[in-house]
Amino acid sequence: MGSAPQPGSGVRASSTVDGDRAAGNRPASDRPVRPFLKWAGGKRQLLPVLREFYPPEFGAYHEPFLGSGAVFFDLASASRLDRGKVHLTDVNADLIGCWRRLRDKPEAVIRRLQALATGYERDPGEHYYRVRNDLFNPARGRIMNGNGPRAESYSAALAAMFIYLNRTGYNGLFRLNSSGWFNVPRGNYKNPRICDRVNLRRVSAMLSGLAATIEHAQFDTVLQTAHAGDFIYFDPPYAPLSATAQFTSYTADGFSAEDQRRLQQVVIELATRGCGVLLSNSTAPAIAALYDGNRDAERAGLRAYTVPARRAINSDASRRGHVDEYIVTNVAPQTT
Ligand SMILES: C[S@@+](CC[C@H](N)C(=O)[O-])C[C@H]1O[C@@H](n2cnc3c(N)ncnc32)[C@H](O)[C@@H]1O
Repeated sequence: MGSAPQPGSGVRASSTVDGDRAAGNRPASDRPVRPFLKWAGGKRQLLPVLREFYPPEFGAYHEPFLGSGAVFFDLASASRLDRGKVHLTDVNADLIGCWRRLRDKPEAVIRRLQALATGYERDPGEHYYRVRNDLFNPARGRIMNGNGPRAESYSAALAAMFIYLNRTGYNGLFRLNSSGWFNVPRGNYKNPRICDRVNLRRVSAMLSGLAATIEHAQFDTVLQTAHAGDFIYFDPPYAPLSATAQFTSYTADGFSAEDQRRLQQVVIELATRGCGVLLSNSTAPAIAALYDGNRDAERAGLRAYTVPARRAINSDASRRGHVDEYIVTNVAPQTT
């Protein structure tokens, strides 16, 4: 790797291609299956860049920072996951509980979500806070263990409420207060799409068809499941841009400088094992210091790229379109 990462050849974010726009006016059954959640740091806007680093062939697919799974849906919609196993994990137990219940009980989730959508139409403000305070938080409370709710105990009712709060809450955020209660205020949406039955059914069928494993786990458990020839996409919470290479104690979204270092070790180990790895992160100097010019990373065949991209959610319109992203991978870019 060079001393300062440069844009990779042909690596440019296209400004228009994403699932929705590419779908145009096609009938619903022809459209790509889309993420069913909005998620902070979701990668739909970056897909045109990331696609260039999907290996031409791979065995199993692993996504250890799942969120709304933009890359998973992109690969699955292109039938790139039909040959190997699929392992999806995240440390957010509610998120994982929701994905699992939608996979296993789509009709029960849809029925409840439809009822919530009807209630919202009548009186959005009153309904949102009643669902959040009187239904969702108490139901989560009943399935708590020491760390949060048990993902395996997530009911269809909880999964429906999770999707509802995600579609109608402020910016799709999932935030808990210090006592562990979900406390995101209502978002200011005119006509939110709460229950997209067609897409939800297709997500469920896709997950079942792929026999995807969906687990509540720390990212480093991927070391136990990944083998040579597999492909792993890592999308951790981004390091704050202000984190300098020397600043070792930042924590953003519960992900510390120490977690970023542990992640670097995992990425290097998997690349050395013969897996295809792809990591996205911010261009913080602390992250560049972990990969660019790092001898172990270089020996593992990793290269770093700085790529221009559009930010998916930025309340300041003037700042959209001026964000660089940092990509680390051992996959050669497939320029088209
Ligand atoms: C930037 S988001 C991923 C977004 C995703 N790529 C998408 O398209 O929506 C990062 C995710 O990492 C998860 N996460 C944070 N710390 C983690 C850890 N230690 N192990 C596994 N997942 C973690 C968060 O819950 C969050 O869903």
